[in-house]
Amino acid sequence: MPWFAYRNGVLCAEAVPLDHIAAEVGTPAYVYSTAALTDRYRSLADAFAGMPVLIAYAMKANSNLAVLRHFGALGAGADVVSGGELQLALKAGIAPGKIIFAGVGKTRDEMALALKAGNTGIAQFNVESEPELQALSEVAAGLGLRAPVAIRINPDIDAKTHKKITTGKAENKFGISYRRAQAVYAEAAALPGINITGVHVHIGSQLTDLTPYEETFQRVAELVTALRIAGHDIRRVDLGGGLGIRYNDETPPDPRAYAELVRKHIAPLGCEIALEPGRYLVGNAGLLLTRVTYVKSADKKTFLILDAGMNDLVRPAMYEAYHGVVPVKAPESGAEIAPVDIVGPVCETGDTFAEDRPMPPVDQGDLLAILSAGAYSSAMASTYNARPLAPEVMVHGDRFAITRRRPSIEDMTALETLPAWLSEAKA
Ligand code: LLP
Repeated sequence: MPWFAYRNGVLCAEAVPLDHIAAEVGTPAYVYSTAALTDRYRSLADAFAGMPVLIAYAMKANSNLAVLRHFGALGAGADVVSGGELQLALKAGIAPGKIIFAGVGKTRDEMALALKAGNTGIAQFNVESEPELQALSEVAAGLGLRAPVAIRINPDIDAKTHKKITTGKAENKFGISYRRAQAVYAEAAALPGINITGVHVHIGSQLTDLTPYEETFQRVAELVTALRIAGHDIRRVDLGGGLGIRYNDETPPDPRAYAELVRKHIAPLGCEIALEPGRYLVGNAGLLLTRVTYVKSADKKTFLILDAGMNDLVRPAMYEAYHGVVPVKAPESGAEIAPVDIVGPVCETGDTFAEDRPMPPVDQGDLLAILSAGAYSSAMASTYNARPLAPEVMVHGDRFAITRRRPSIEDMTALETLPAWLSEAKA
């Protein structure tokens, strides 16, 4: 990872030593590299050069405003899945015309917000069910508008990824079955508040094999052709996200190989192409900086107990996900490597980042970096155990800025009030 490398014996984010950040910001803290974000965005955009593509960043992966702003400035749009994400994208300056609204449970209030965003409304709603189609039509017609709609097709293709992040199988809750697509498009075309603009698919996340993509693209191309024959004006094909990254020893596909498949199967349709990458753009652009609170030698194991916990990075607990862990101070050459369990302070056995992980010697007080923590890390954090959300830091060359500060206990309780009968009671 070129953006995070040892210089003079200390792990740096770009040109900033991570121990400087820890001294100023404290730990745990998420650290993002601007150069990494730029590189990832450009590598994808360049791979699609010559094709009319909208890169709608799946901001569920990381919705820090500075990250959004940076991608917006590079030309990205946003894939949002809630009214909250929509408002953040707009706040970060992303034009409504570059925003796509996905998700299986959009409420009528969220639909209205999106229809009214800016003066124009958003680019596209990705609709996942017939009741949602009906509701969207009613809300739009009530506002005297037509909602631009792509219907999410569930192609029943196995993305060969973790079962909790596979979405394109018939048994998953997402989309409308390929088999019923024609009927649902016909229904949509007859609704007063709907304007059909496209087709959407997303088969899963952290895909490391291109074969499921190729099968999906073939199905989508066939469907678009059939829908056009049926008289629908399909102008945009939204291929979703899912491109995998390397956490450990995976060999994720090169974006150019992915783009070639799109060029082969989708580009000939002559549509605008939308992509919804999340993890690919941010996953390896961030790490979680943490300090070892204790080294505990138990009967069978040695535990490194960190000040970061599952509330800061839930992926290992939730998906048995692997994240690299490295010391901030470069280990001495020839240092003895021994297995340790790396755990957080949260009162749950599942609060474990790694079991039997080979590590060089680590002492109490040492700083560690948990790698590949740019995606689905801060975004999935909670305040469980009344732990403050860890701050977020963005590095740019030899500078860094706190883009979200650590909340105080007053911040954390700002929304709470005691009911009168308790506040009146004598303590
Ligand atoms: N589009 C749709 C409709 C999605 O549901 C998702 C992710 C994306 C795009 C972006 O996928 P990506 O490019 O990031 O793979 N929390 C899990 C991942 C959940 C993904 C949910 N949907 C994790 O930490 O692995």
